[in-house]
Amino acid sequence: MIEFSQVSKQFGDVEALEEVSLTIQDGEFVTLIGPSGCGKTTMLRIAAGLEAPSGGRVLVNGDTPENACSQHQIGVAFQRPALLASRTALKNVRMTLEITGREGALSPDELLTDFGLGDFHHHYPHQLSGGMQQRVNIAAALVHNPAILLLDEPFGALDELTRESMGEWLGGVLNRSSKTVIFVTHSVEEATILSDRVVVLSARPGRIAEVIEIGLPRPRSKAFRTDENFLREVARVRSSLYQAVELSA
Ligand SMILES: Nc1ncnc2c1ncn2[C@@H]1O[C@H](COP(=O)(O)OP(=O)(O)OP(=O)(O)O)[C@@H](O)[C@H]1O
Ligand SMILES: [Mg+2]
Repeated sequence: MIEFSQVSKQFGDVEALEEVSLTIQDGEFVTLIGPSGCGKTTMLRIAAGLEAPSGGRVLVNGDTPENACSQHQIGVAFQRPALLASRTALKNVRMTLEITGREGALSPDELLTDFGLGDFHHHYPHQLSGGMQQRVNIAAALVHNPAILLLDEPFGALDELTRESMGEWLGGVLNRSSKTVIFVTHSVEEATILSDRVVVLSARPGRIAEVIEIGLPRPRSKAFRTDENFLREVARVRSSLYQAVELSA
């Protein structure tokens, strides 16, 4: 369980977050959506123990994020793949284990194969497409088998169709594991198809404008994107986002 209790964050004169309270249950997929600069990345960095809140606190399974991280309970992937150019896909994934140790870890070979990269273990990042690099990046975040995954716009740089496939693939991978995920995206469709709940944030300072339960059955395949129930949920999230932006304008 991840608990944000009245979390505020100040960077000098800039108030990035204001009293954000949110509890995320084990196994839940929660997406943060909101205008640029509203503090989504800051929330993830605080949950990962990379940034300290100015007010309030975050607990990860009752402990500090720093402790959760040092116990390798958390995996993080950001928008730009953090791959080393001089290492193959496989060696990039193995690199996480050099930091975290191998205890309880997944097999890097099996993980890459599972991610559809069976023929690319020994390719270097520049020999991979953007979507493939992003899969290696997420594999590196998953290989130590963390209970919690923090994903900051992992598909932001991809074209829409690749993005849809990646979302479907991520949904499939997560359905078979039962990880707790905090996901950040600017895409209302992506948020709706992947999430159990969508947290809509207002413009800076980020506050929670609305938390929307996505009442759609799983699995949610690509065909589901044209289903009227899906489109109704998308409209609900979109109008909430419009309202959040208007409120803060
Ligand atoms: N290390 C930092 N030092 C100073 N200001 C920062 C720092 N990190 C973030 N900020 C400020 O905090 C605010 C929130 O930033 P953050 O990156 O969390 O936004 P975001 O919601 O992730 O935006 P985007 O959708 O563009 O990625 C911004 O005004 C940003 O300028
Ligand atoms: Mg961001």
